[in-house]
Amino acid sequence: MTTLPEPAWPPAEEKPWMSRKQYQLFNRRRAVRCWLWPYLRSRLHPNDFRPLLAYLFTEFKCNLDCHYCWAHSNKTAGMTEEVALNAIDWLHDAGCRALAIMGGEPLLRPKFIHKIVAYATGRGFFVYLPTNGRLMWPTVIDKLGDAGLATVNLAVDCVDEKPGLPKALNPIRKHFEYLVKMQAKYGYTVFLNINITRLNLDDVIALTEIAHDANIATDYHLNEAPMLEQDHFGRAHDNGTYIRPEDRPAVDDLLDRLADLNRSGYQMVNSCQHFADMVLHLLFGNNRLGHDPPSPFQHHATGSTQEDLHGQLPVDMPAHARLCLQCRARRALAGASGEARIQRRKRQFLTLNSASRDPESIGSANS
Ligand SMILES: C[S@@+](CC[C@H](N)C(=O)[O-])C[C@H]1O[C@@H](n2cnc3c(N)ncnc32)[C@H](O)[C@@H]1O
Ligand code: SF4
Repeated sequence: MTTLPEPAWPPAEEKPWMSRKQYQLFNRRRAVRCWLWPYLRSRLHPNDFRPLLAYLFTEFKCNLDCHYCWAHSNKTAGMTEEVALNAIDWLHDAGCRALAIMGGEPLLRPKFIHKIVAYATGRGFFVYLPTNGRLMWPTVIDKLGDAGLATVNLAVDCVDEKPGLPKALNPIRKHFEYLVKMQAKYGYTVFLNINITRLNLDDVIALTEIAHDANIATDYHLNEAPMLEQDHFGRAHDNGTYIRPEDRPAVDDLLDRLADLNRSGYQMVNSCQHFADMVLHLLFGNNRLGHDPPSPFQHHATGSTQEDLHGQLPVDMPAHARLCLQCRARRALAGASGEARIQRRKRQFLTLNSASRDPESIGSANS
């Protein structure tokens, strides 16, 4: 059976520490090489299949059990080295240069991930690793950093563990501190990835401040119910992490606050416009971000969510009013004003729910 090459370890030569400027230049060059050039080449060959970013699901097993997560299954075997190698080679031939490892928890098999990172970076890929950090020991960080890992998406939802939300920062503080420190040696970037649920609204701000103090970015998403029925997921009903209608004002405030922090210079992956879009989805999207129209399984999956939206869209302020000037200008240039978007969303929402909703009451609630 074909296997991935064994990476050299320990390295023949230690990597030198970079100055801030060298670090920025290093990452800019990598971004041009792995994102900009492949994109431009794809535009030159519009009829070819040239993926810009690929997800390599190396693992479905996980050492944690976040109550919202249906993306892990401890009964499913992980990817083999042969599949990983063939996938990377195939993607390379297709012009792709950005590879996101995905799971489950990829670091359940650190040697495998080390091999993937070394092989993929050797073929010119930007490699992105999401992890809950529990198994990210300093030696693992050294190996992956030396192998050329480009970015670490450290997923944490709270400062201290909470029932249902085990991805917390305090149990991995030492790993976090080492990971942040070694950026200047290995050149990777780190950001905190935070899932906004009904249980961690205060933690979201606390983690944002911790990331800001550590001079790293944050990335946010709204907790979602499954888009399709997932046989292995036993928490589709009565899930304590899902955002309920009564949580919407607090989540709405939180999103506003995050947009304000973004405007004040906090490093964030999400733009102000993205926060405004999250508000729209929170209010109109059946608690579903990025799935419009809502999935037919949504009602089934979240039980009360769709029913509770009937006739009461708590919109007392147009979301576009909260956009910063730059985002408003961008949106206006794109030919869709915030108000037009809201109206379009409302029409989609009404069409999809026309059987069980009274459009007039919604119209008056939003006028
Ligand atoms: C499935 S995990 C895999 C990688 C790693 N174990 C981790 O937690 O980042 C990838 C991302 O999916 C997100 N995720 C899982 N279930 C979700 C849900 N129900 N709603 C929103 N995001 C979810 C997690 O927060 C995590 O950041
Ligand atoms: S750590 Fe990641 S894969 Fe594991 S349960 Fe949590 S979100 Fe899912």
